[in-house]
Amino acid sequence: MLLEIENVVGGYGRVEILHGVSLGVEEGEIVSILGANGAGKTTLLRTVSALLPAWSGSIRFAGKELVGMKTESIAARGLGHLPEGRGIFQMLTVQENFDVAASLRRDSRAEVRKDIARLLSVFPALTSKLKHPAALLSGGQQQMLALARALLGRPKLLMIDELSFGLAAVLVEELFTTIQQLRDQGTTFLIVEQNAGVLEIADRVYVMRGGRNEVAGAASEFAENRDLLVRSYLGG
Ligand SMILES: Nc1ncnc2c1ncn2[C@@H]1O[C@H](COP(=O)(O)OP(=O)(O)OP(=O)(O)O)[C@@H](O)[C@H]1O
Ligand SMILES: [Mg+2]
Repeated sequence: MLLEIENVVGGYGRVEILHGVSLGVEEGEIVSILGANGAGKTTLLRTVSALLPAWSGSIRFAGKELVGMKTESIAARGLGHLPEGRGIFQMLTVQENFDVAASLRRDSRAEVRKDIARLLSVFPALTSKLKHPAALLSGGQQQMLALARALLGRPKLLMIDELSFGLAAVLVEELFTTIQQLRDQGTTFLIVEQNAGVLEIADRVYVMRGGRNEVAGAASEFAENRDLLVRSYLGG
């Protein structure tokens, strides 16, 4: 397992939100976490990234225990996190947004430039917008920029929180297809979604409810059996 979350308990202040979550992601997989509002999906990703402390349990990434590590060290190990909301600098241009992400890289400028060129070929809509402030991009383009920026950090595994939020169905489909391409090029994904369209690209799915992961299975099982999905959301 590239990422192994075992019995993680955590929350905000003294309020326990995660009551023992366990899940795993193999290298090269797209794993999705589905769940209704308030299920604890965002809280789980924040805990993995150490934006919130894990009260107990274990989170291993590439064999190393992450609990107790700082957020920056976790990111530096190759565990990326694209948070809820777009996480881009609205007042900066697209190019400047790339530059900020590039400044965190320790390898050569030439390597970074190559990566930016490759990402622009994955997201061609951004090429003509390099000099535009991010705030003027459409919602879909902003989401592409957020994704491209996160990828510029060269994560081995990228956790994404609600990529599809607020986007039209066509755009969501396009972004999901892009994620599939990126996976084929070597990135592993853990994707939190409320949009069941993610079942088309995911290998495996976990459904969270009330701070627990209750149901897990192959994405194809869920895609073929909408009842299973509805039951696991509602409990029954
Ligand atoms: N900053 C916070 N302080 C206290 N409680 C919070 C905070 N953020 C979230 N919660 C609570 O934690 C629980 C889980 O929320 P979380 O945001 O993890 O759910 P989610 O599955 O991501 O939902 P959504 O689909 O709406 O994004 C909810 O009951 C929520 O009210
Ligand atoms: Mg959330």
